[in-house]
Amino acid sequence: MDHALTQASIEVEMMMAGFKQTKFEKSKRKYAESQQVLARGVASSLRSAMKPTPLFAESGEGPRIRDIDGNEYIDCLLAYGPLILGHAHPSLTDGVLVALKKSPAFGLQHEGEIQLARLLTEVLPCADQVALSGSGTEAVMLAIRLARAYTRRPKIVRFHGHYHGWSDSIFTSFPSADIRQSAGATGAKAERILPGTGGQSDNSLEDIILLPWNESEMLEQILREHKDQIAAVISEPIMCNSGCIKPRPGYLELIRELTSELSIVMILDEVITGFRLGLGGAHGKLNLNPDLVTVGKAMGGGIAISAVGGRREIMKQIEDGTVSHLGTLNGNGLAVTAAMATIEELAKDGGAAYRQMEQTTDQLVAGIRDALAKHSIPGLINHVGPVFHMMFTTETQVEHFDTFNKRDGAMYSRFAEKMLDRGVLNRPNGLWYVSAVHGEREIQETVRAVDSTLAEL
Ligand SMILES: Cc1ncc(COP(=O)(O)O)c(C=O)c1O
Repeated sequence: MDHALTQASIEVEMMMAGFKQTKFEKSKRKYAESQQVLARGVASSLRSAMKPTPLFAESGEGPRIRDIDGNEYIDCLLAYGPLILGHAHPSLTDGVLVALKKSPAFGLQHEGEIQLARLLTEVLPCADQVALSGSGTEAVMLAIRLARAYTRRPKIVRFHGHYHGWSDSIFTSFPSADIRQSAGATGAKAERILPGTGGQSDNSLEDIILLPWNESEMLEQILREHKDQIAAVISEPIMCNSGCIKPRPGYLELIRELTSELSIVMILDEVITGFRLGLGGAHGKLNLNPDLVTVGKAMGGGIAISAVGGRREIMKQIEDGTVSHLGTLNGNGLAVTAAMATIEELAKDGGAAYRQMEQTTDQLVAGIRDALAKHSIPGLINHVGPVFHMMFTTETQVEHFDTFNKRDGAMYSRFAEKMLDRGVLNRPNGLWYVSAVHGEREIQETVRAVDSTLAEL
């Protein structure tokens, strides 16, 4: 196809449509151009949700990002989580450039893999051994496979509102259908579980048992009833993907107790919380001992890498060939270097970065809460370390997926759009991330932007 022609025809079309000059003009044009050649115009479907248009980035520095229209934003999207050190942190870029010059990938073993694996086994309390892969989705796929092979059972218990990547065997409709509808009175088995996407085979979720989270009785009943069929229970430790909801006191401990008693594998999916809540993730912080943990996102500081860590007895199935673990670029030099640099930076000065992030986030959350109160707009924030979910809702507490679903998502999307106008980038669904390089200035500017946006709303 003649791209010059395509470009020209897009421009004519836009002029004819009376396309007005806006702050996001170039991004809008690029999005239209992108849609001609890139499916949906974005590289991950979720990104098309951004209003008024998916933005096209030019560059980023520390806590700020610039788009191709020259607008600068305080970045609270942080590439959907990974940029825990902000953009282009020197520790990361310097190391990665050196690794790149040596060669981005060898397809052979290299010293960096051992160093990273050793570091991961030191910082992740539950990991005797680790396996490296490229994305959170892949890490979850491996964890599930390890659990099924280990127990020789087929079923996986997962929870409404949690997200574990988009592979066929775990991707349920997201956000999931209302709990009460699909869990039914007697548990999850009775109802059909909706697939997350077209193209998933009809039976891909046959082995999934979908339960409401934070409900102890139903969990115990189902685990006991189906114990001979259940390989694993997989859970986010904090329900970051739907409202940053915390586990009820004792709930994760109950999962641990029951799974141990019934010889079921407990998988904690820490793709968001890993390296974000602390070096040892949520399980380190909450003193939990899952059999397997999956980490990704923040681990590589923005370069694709993920890992599964866990008990030697389970991980050993990779070594003895029972379970295949594959991936052409697994453990490549760039990704391994990025992960080492990120983790080492986060570990400096006894974890000073975490103290900084927590302090900054506390201040930001307090400022937003004050602004909500000042403008008498019903809303709340669920907040765990340097990640929080802001929502507009008349509920006074959101501790469950069904109350989370009562929030006004459309209003939040409008809010996020207006925040862009005021120079703050955040995800249209309300999930905010704060990095180790967000400081006082970013907090004050963001709180001012929230205040004036709420006044406008
Ligand atoms: C808890 C959790 N698990 C798994 C994944 C999938 O990770 P990835 O997008 O890297 O495949 C995500 C992504 O958001 C996640 O939040």
